[in-house]
Amino acid sequence: MTKKSYYITTPIYYPSDNLHIGHAYTTVAADCMARFKRMQGFDVCYLTGTDEHGQKIEKVALEKDMTPQHYVDGIVEGIKLLWEAMLISNNDFIRTTEKRHEEVVKNLFQKVYEQGDIYISEYEGWYCTPCETFFTERQLSDGKCPDCGRDVEKLKEESYFFNMAKYADRLLEHIDSHPDFIQPESRRNEVINFIKNGLDDLCVSRTTFNWGVPVPFNDRHVVYVWFDALINYVSAIGYLDDKEKFDRYWPANVHLMAKDILRFHAIIWPIMLMAVGLPLPEKVFAHGWIMLEGGKMSKSKGNVIDPLQLVNKYGVDAVRYYLVKELSFGQDGMYSEEMLVNRINSDLANDLGNLISRTVAMINRYFDSRIPERIGEDALDQELITTALTVYSEATEKLEKLDFAAYIQSVLKLISRANKYIDETQPWLLAKDEDKQDRLGTVLYNLVETIRIAIVLLAPAMPTLPERANQQLGIFEDPAILTWEEAGKWGAARAGTIVHKGKALFPRIDLKYQDGEENSDHEELEKQKIEEDNNLIDIEEFARMDLRVATVIACEKMKKADKLLVLKLQVGEEERTVISGIAKAYEPEQLIGRNVVLVANLKPVKLRGVLSQGMILAASDPQDNHIEVLTVEKIESGNRVK
Ligand code: MSP
Repeated sequence: MTKKSYYITTPIYYPSDNLHIGHAYTTVAADCMARFKRMQGFDVCYLTGTDEHGQKIEKVALEKDMTPQHYVDGIVEGIKLLWEAMLISNNDFIRTTEKRHEEVVKNLFQKVYEQGDIYISEYEGWYCTPCETFFTERQLSDGKCPDCGRDVEKLKEESYFFNMAKYADRLLEHIDSHPDFIQPESRRNEVINFIKNGLDDLCVSRTTFNWGVPVPFNDRHVVYVWFDALINYVSAIGYLDDKEKFDRYWPANVHLMAKDILRFHAIIWPIMLMAVGLPLPEKVFAHGWIMLEGGKMSKSKGNVIDPLQLVNKYGVDAVRYYLVKELSFGQDGMYSEEMLVNRINSDLANDLGNLISRTVAMINRYFDSRIPERIGEDALDQELITTALTVYSEATEKLEKLDFAAYIQSVLKLISRANKYIDETQPWLLAKDEDKQDRLGTVLYNLVETIRIAIVLLAPAMPTLPERANQQLGIFEDPAILTWEEAGKWGAARAGTIVHKGKALFPRIDLKYQDGEENSDHEELEKQKIEEDNNLIDIEEFARMDLRVATVIACEKMKKADKLLVLKLQVGEEERTVISGIAKAYEPEQLIGRNVVLVANLKPVKLRGVLSQGMILAASDPQDNHIEVLTVEKIESGNRVK
């Protein structure tokens, strides 16, 4: 039986600059949906990408003395790395400068022209370059762009126009007969009013710059960037060249974006689709903006937050969790580092982290590290089980509606119910009574089960959580347990599984000790002490590091990454691949045959699609950028370094 398909998209972002946390907001939300649907067994296509044409990009590139293509190539590389670091599981990444996309744009432009919906005329109006949008005089607000408030330019030029008004009634009928087409409800009403006020014909070509897809029958014109960009949603899934794929995924289930660009997706795009005879997407969902305390994030205010820095500082799961939780159904969210840290501390370190560590510690102590069996069920157990199953249904329902914050709230309810269950059942008292061993076992089993369910439910938001929790609980070995359906059943955790006490999944963060904070003398002393303590490790800790001699048997430069080398290492009997940032210091052939030192038990990471299985040691002098790889001469590969 073929799987049911699910196609979700984010906007394709402008690579005029590096992306910020606002872009991550949409991309993480869409990722959360994509993962949820995969866990439900859908054949998911999750698409994101970049919108690379237009005057703004041309201008920025020119200022940097680069060709637009060269400029966007660099930014796009950074965007792809950002999405990798944020564990975005997109199935494809579309760039509007790709041939597969440009061909579809030309094809559809021609088609609409031939059927008479596009005509040539003269345009006079106001253009906002940063928003790539035309406005009529009456649409301006105090003479400025009504969307971003910046200056607009008066333009008069020959242009092609798209007769949108022709389709307005059909679109209104569609919105009326498909109540879920535009979500949330309040935005739907805005769109309806906008259409009812009358749709002007849309200017769909430009002649004042070149950086775009040429109009196929008149190469003095390039296609207006929005007409070009929206088409990505069909070009990426093979509109022209892969009918099977196109039929599988189109119409899309959800186009996700923030409210700023809803009009393009809920009016222009559906009308374009009607004009070319394609079905409309099932849903266009506009979430709110993520705001800073001082207002909206913007490059000119200099208050842009880089998500990569946050991920490096707090970990990917924690940052994703925060963003998903701040996405309350269509409303604006807030970001501050303090709020992020508070969320990590209260929801993750305290509530979830403590629930896991308390449960593991008790299983360790009372049942020799083996998850006990459950025997019987009393009223308290039943209540916990009912809560778990209700939360499962609620979380499912909220996610289906893209109500991300409510989904997280629901799972938090379960976690806090489980913490209360510990206080109510008082396992430490049961442990003192020989006759209550079965009861104690049941309580602990029920706790493991609740944790299992909570973790599976949280996995779309925090993808590394199951794997990390597994190191302590050992119950997620079998991937089958990570399906969404399994979270709706009670009793799937296997009794007898060995648990391991481990490091806290989410260590508490003390904001006081984060950078840039002034502390009193007393605090300063405390801080130093903590730092000293943190800097010292004991011999057991050091011994956890598995350092090995490894022989470089092959080495090459990583494609499109000027700092990285890909090394093939022989470590005793085993071969490993390791990526190392030493390409500026060594030519690949200089390293072949040398014995280097490998951190052999470092968690593997995927970099640009290549799995790096460890790290080689090198010393560096930042003063003159000098790097030297540590080597040994007479010890054979596979031997330990200590
Ligand atoms: N290129 C167009 C989209 C074309 S889609 C066919 C574009 N690009 S953009 O880079 O400006 O991205 C806008 C989108 O980025 C928003 O709709 C939203 O998804 C995301 N966000 C950018 N800043 C944001 C916030 N501050 N808050 C929430 N989302 C934000 O428009």
